[in-house]
Amino acid sequence: MITSKIERLDDEGRGIAYNEGKVVFIPDTLPKEEVEYEILVDKKNFSEGKLINILQENKNRVLPKCPLYNVCGGCSLMHSNIGFQEDYKSNKIKNILRRYANIDTDVKFVKSNKDLFYRNKVVLKVENNKWGYYQKKSHNLLEIDSCLLVNNNINEVIRNHDYINIIDGEITIRTNYEDKILISITSDKKVNINKNTIPSNVVGIVINKETIYGDNYFYDMISDIKFKVSYNSFFQINNYIAGEIFDILRCNLEGENLLDLYCGVGTLGLSLSKKYKNIYGIEKIRNAIEDAKLNAKENNIENTHFFVGDTGTVLKDIDVSFDTVIIDPPRSGLNDETLQYILESKPKSLAYISCNTITLARDLNKIKEVYNLKKVTGLDMFPNCHDVECVCLLERK
Ligand SMILES: C[S@@+](CC[C@H](N)C(=O)[O-])C[C@H]1O[C@@H](n2cnc3c(N)ncnc32)[C@H](O)[C@@H]1O
Repeated sequence: MITSKIERLDDEGRGIAYNEGKVVFIPDTLPKEEVEYEILVDKKNFSEGKLINILQENKNRVLPKCPLYNVCGGCSLMHSNIGFQEDYKSNKIKNILRRYANIDTDVKFVKSNKDLFYRNKVVLKVENNKWGYYQKKSHNLLEIDSCLLVNNNINEVIRNHDYINIIDGEITIRTNYEDKILISITSDKKVNINKNTIPSNVVGIVINKETIYGDNYFYDMISDIKFKVSYNSFFQINNYIAGEIFDILRCNLEGENLLDLYCGVGTLGLSLSKKYKNIYGIEKIRNAIEDAKLNAKENNIENTHFFVGDTGTVLKDIDVSFDTVIIDPPRSGLNDETLQYILESKPKSLAYISCNTITLARDLNKIKEVYNLKKVTGLDMFPNCHDVECVCLLERK
């Protein structure tokens, strides 16, 4: 067993210590803690350790509320209080922007209204009729009967699912503002549903893209807008924080033509419909674009134009001069064609929204040649986990 002091946390929430000059990553630890650990992985330039004992605790350490905390691996920061987590996330944004984009900036931080039960969606693995998550760094299933991060309507489905007989596969459970449940399943094996015992709040079950019960969508609310969400559309998982993002955009942006890149079901663009003459949105999932069109109609928003396809490809066919572009890409960040488009067309302002600060910083490093970073806000979209949502507002130089 080795004893070391934890110097700081890395970007994945793991403690960093040094053993004979080599860096060791030790999960479940906090800065300034004196810990005993064993080495699990030893590589040329770093090691990975397993915490055995804490000799001196950080004052922000708390007892993890989840009984599965040690095996699950989902909540990398649950052993610290929320104030500590918020400071860590705010500093993480600052550090990554400095390291990868050479940008020094202040970061405003927005807290979540809940640190538990905030997720409106969960994706579970199913093996031999057991439902759960994969355990830390493995493909071993950890059977669960609830998860402290997900809304309790979803936990009710996880606990009582006699009406769904699935042997192997993946199951996605969503809930909405009306406590309704939408379930989608993928499986190579036969899935049996007992339609007579499905609870009344389950509005739809989709198996391998086919709707076998009810609908393949439901409606959810963020702030003052109602959204149709199809079973396979991206939708923000923390409704409160999504509403806070709307507020940031509404307080800072307005103009003639707005382009909402990676628009999903139209969420961010629609939130700005009163601030622009025209809203254009691009998204690659066809169902999501159909939902976006309907969302505009149902919220009496008449100034929208939605396009389905890859952003880089669709942009070649849109001959509009945009004053503002919203960028909310997947974790991989901007693709080359889209980045090129922004740098060449030079809209007056940009809002870049991201849950992956490293790809955000990589893209900002190129964007900053043409734009000044005006405001950075971190938002606690994922309490108890190390990821953080970030909204960056930029103005053309
Ligand atoms: C982080 S989500 C943002 C969705 C939306 N802005 C919102 O707030 O709900 C990223 C979206 O980008 C879409 N997407 C991923 N790659 C894409 C591409 N190359 N072209 C267009 N859309 C893409 C995904 O389907 C997903 O809906």
